[in-house]
Amino acid sequence: MPLGLGNRVDARGRAHCSADAFLDRRIEFLDHATQRMEPAVHSEVVVRATDSRGDSVLAAAARELGLRATDQPEAPALLLVHDAEGFGLRPLRPARAGTVRVEFGGARSRGRLSGSLRSQPLARAVGIGAAPPHVLDATGGLGRDAWLLATLGCRVTLVERHRILAFLLRAALARAAASPATAACAARIELLEGDAREALRGCMDAGRPDVVYLDPMFGGSRRTALARLDLQVVQQLLGEEPDDPKLLQAARAAARRRVVVKRLRTAPPLAPGRSHAVAGQAIRFDVYRPDGAAGG
Ligand SMILES: C[S@@+](CC[C@H](N)C(=O)[O-])C[C@H]1O[C@@H](n2cnc3c(N)ncnc32)[C@H](O)[C@@H]1O
Repeated sequence: MPLGLGNRVDARGRAHCSADAFLDRRIEFLDHATQRMEPAVHSEVVVRATDSRGDSVLAAAARELGLRATDQPEAPALLLVHDAEGFGLRPLRPARAGTVRVEFGGARSRGRLSGSLRSQPLARAVGIGAAPPHVLDATGGLGRDAWLLATLGCRVTLVERHRILAFLLRAALARAAASPATAACAARIELLEGDAREALRGCMDAGRPDVVYLDPMFGGSRRTALARLDLQVVQQLLGEEPDDPKLLQAARAAARRRVVVKRLRTAPPLAPGRSHAVAGQAIRFDVYRPDGAAGG
């Protein structure tokens, strides 16, 4: 079944489907996620029993995600928290490590967006012209790159298959849509929960993206380009994810103009055949032409 019919979510967090279809898709998705994650899960996400009784939003999220409520969580569990800044994940160790959030327009994302946006390596790799491209970000994560692309004016289809990360993205998108300062940018992002390979196959019929963007977990080494605490949390959630050459193949089949792959600067390319690369300080963006195209 093509992804995006049962679980398409707009910037206000509304699912465009019937309740039954949505439930079917969720069950299908959870089955898929469980199978995929069995060997890789390193920590569970829990909520504090006391918080989950006091905060009805957190309690509803815990029910939706099937999280355990406990007052004695043990590392390496991650706590799902909810406060004035929205949802976040907090590692239990080290103590006071901080909280990782999807920040669409928050202080951290503002810091990142300072300077000339269009000269950022990601912007140059994607190719922001007079008409910013439609980008399918196949590896959503914490949405840092997607928000940058939307700020640059790109329409972004954001795909994430991990249900906790997809939940954080959905909640942050709804918050951003509700704030006048970020609503216009949020409206350019559409979130799909599920496997990007299905999303890429699905868009062959309905609206191929100009650019497909991939930021796989490991850029050819045990490090990624995520910031330190972000990396710790994402790694705890996902475990080790080997590079998936099939994702690049699906991306090259679907993109109209180009495929951009983020790597650590010193890592080997994900696959041979890139047309060029744009290097930043620690990271590099490899650009591939789509199948059968003259490029762009
Ligand atoms: C390194 S993180 C991406 C970080 C992201 N670029 C950001 O700015 O926050 C990689 C993410 O891709 C997701 N992912 C990997 N393969 C995927 C696939 N085939 N479909 C959907 N999501 C995928 C993982 O679950 C993980 O959240």
